[in-house]
Amino acid sequence: MSEPTIEITGVRKKFGEVDVLRGVDLSVERGEVVVLMGPSGSGKTTLVRCMNLLEEPDAGRVRICDCAFDCGGPRDRSARRLAQRARRRTGMVFQQFNLFPHMTALGNVIEGPRQVRRLPAAEAVALGERLLARVGLADKRDEYPSRLSGGQKQRVAIARALAMEPEVVLFDEPTSALDPELHAEVLDVIQELAGEGMTMVIVTHETHFAREVADRIVFMDGGVIVEEAAPDAFFTRPAQERARSFLRLVEHAAAPVSAPLPRQGEEAV
Ligand SMILES: Nc1ncnc2c1ncn2[C@@H]1O[C@H](COP(=O)(O)OP(=O)(O)OP(=O)(O)O)[C@@H](O)[C@H]1O
Ligand SMILES: [Mg+2]
Repeated sequence: MSEPTIEITGVRKKFGEVDVLRGVDLSVERGEVVVLMGPSGSGKTTLVRCMNLLEEPDAGRVRICDCAFDCGGPRDRSARRLAQRARRRTGMVFQQFNLFPHMTALGNVIEGPRQVRRLPAAEAVALGERLLARVGLADKRDEYPSRLSGGQKQRVAIARALAMEPEVVLFDEPTSALDPELHAEVLDVIQELAGEGMTMVIVTHETHFAREVADRIVFMDGGVIVEEAAPDAFFTRPAQERARSFLRLVEHAAAPVSAPLPRQGEEAV
């Protein structure tokens, strides 16, 4: 097998006195889809932010493709440059979309290619239009984020991440800020990317989706990885009690409490 796209070794991170990551080792192979799960506060967001060095670990090693970064050393110019190179190889999609409100959908998508990749305007626009079409939003090219639904905003954010031609895309709870009826349109786009062989790490509590899209589930608790398994094995017979109780909780939360209310103008059936 070829070298993993991401290799994280002995990664530690403290915030003040709190040990948030307590020695994490994780490899992600090229084309692999890893779903990261775990209770709130277990360190999932911190780990994905450490993967692309948005957050610098206190210790350990992060390698993304050809950029290997030894953490905890001096933050000199060459270290900063290396971190920047590693960051450019990853795309990140956040829970809260983080679109620029003063730019149209197309403007958001082409900002990185124009400013960072220095693509000429016509080339960047062609790329942006292609990517908006790919996430089903060709007709929203000139809309500002305030006029887009949450699901549309998140799809623009995915197009924006892809515009940097990343080697890997990291998703941090991409649907958790969305109304349930908008989840599918975002998950479908992610599933298509998986089908195209994109390497991805996805933090999500959507168990059905995780089961379908993931090659591997990585379960974290208390700042360490406590279980890694193929989705079927993880969801049907998790080895650790901590994983079992977590799954009971998310499945309980996902269960419908009552029949949905009819929408305005619709009759209850
Ligand atoms: N910038 C920060 N400063 C201080 N503490 C932080 C910071 N970011 C995270 N933490 C703490 O680190 C711990 C892990 O946080 P993290 O956001 O990585 O967890 P998570 O698994 O993503 O949780 P959730 O499921 O709620 O998103 C928490 O206790 C959190 O309060
Ligand atoms: Mg989080």
